Amino acid sequence: MLERIGVRPGWRCLDLGCGAGGILELMAARAEPGGLVVGLDADAGLLQAARDWTHAHRAARTRFVLGDAYRTGLRPASFDLVHVRFVASTAGLAEPLLSEAISLARPGGVVAFQEPDTDALNCYPPHPAWTRLTTALYAAFRAVGGDTTLGQRLFALLRHAGLEDVAYRPFVVGVTSRDPMRDFLPATAESLRKTLVGRDIISDAELDRTLAECRAHLSQPETVFTTYLVAQVWGRTPGSPTCQVATLD
Ligand SMILES: C[S@@+](CC[C@H](N)C(=O)[O-])C[C@H]1O[C@@H](n2cnc3c(N)ncnc32)[C@H](O)[C@@H]1O
Repeated sequence: MLERIGVRPGWRCLDLGCGAGGILELMAARAEPGGLVVGLDADAGLLQAARDWTHAHRAARTRFVLGDAYRTGLRPASFDLVHVRFVASTAGLAEPLLSEAISLARPGGVVAFQEPDTDALNCYPPHPAWTRLTTALYAAFRAVGGDTTLGQRLFALLRHAGLEDVAYRPFVVGVTSRDPMRDFLPATAESLRKTLVGRDIISDAELDRTLAECRAHLSQPETVFTTYLVAQVWGRTPGSPTCQVATLD
């Protein structure tokens, strides 16, 4: 996606809700030398992990901001690229987040969102334990205002927001019993145990039983699954694409 967008040396890039690193390193690899990459997140612990990760990977011109992605307080129109991945689908309120992202991009700059569509998260052959875990996870995301199928309406969302030349690049990944990602669904459900049990979506005992059944199914040599689809959607803010912001703070 970054290649297609054309991120190049000198670009100022912002990752809203960068978490423990997100794509900061990928952006830095393209924006250096001369560019700047800024990661913003509301979670100080994750931001520290991102700082450690990027320093270890020698992304020199990377800065970190502890803040609210929906109200950043950053200088408007000051970035060539504003990127947001998996924030609106988990924290909700996609429209205001998109508005903030657009306000931070320079005229002719790029706003890029990546969001999931869990309708594509399927196991073959199907299994009741897989279905139980996915259903429980979707209920947990809904309970906190998330939208696990946001990827389906992302293209329309960016177009309606006034972005131009909006591009759409969806992808899924196939996983077999021999792939490191085999445990993706059980591991995700396990990491959300507190939410799942605390909100009475599933009991501890049923979760334990379902995790064991699902893991047994996923370990079968002929079982495969597709990950959730990730919709990559990006577009340009109205304005002159030649208006390059080159000065660095
Ligand atoms: C699912 S993670 C995605 C992290 C990263 N973008 C990635 O793709 O690896 C969602 C991130 O959004 C952050 N987040 C949620 N609400 C936020 C807000 N209002 N302001 C800033 N960050 C927020 C969380 O702290 C978390 O790091």
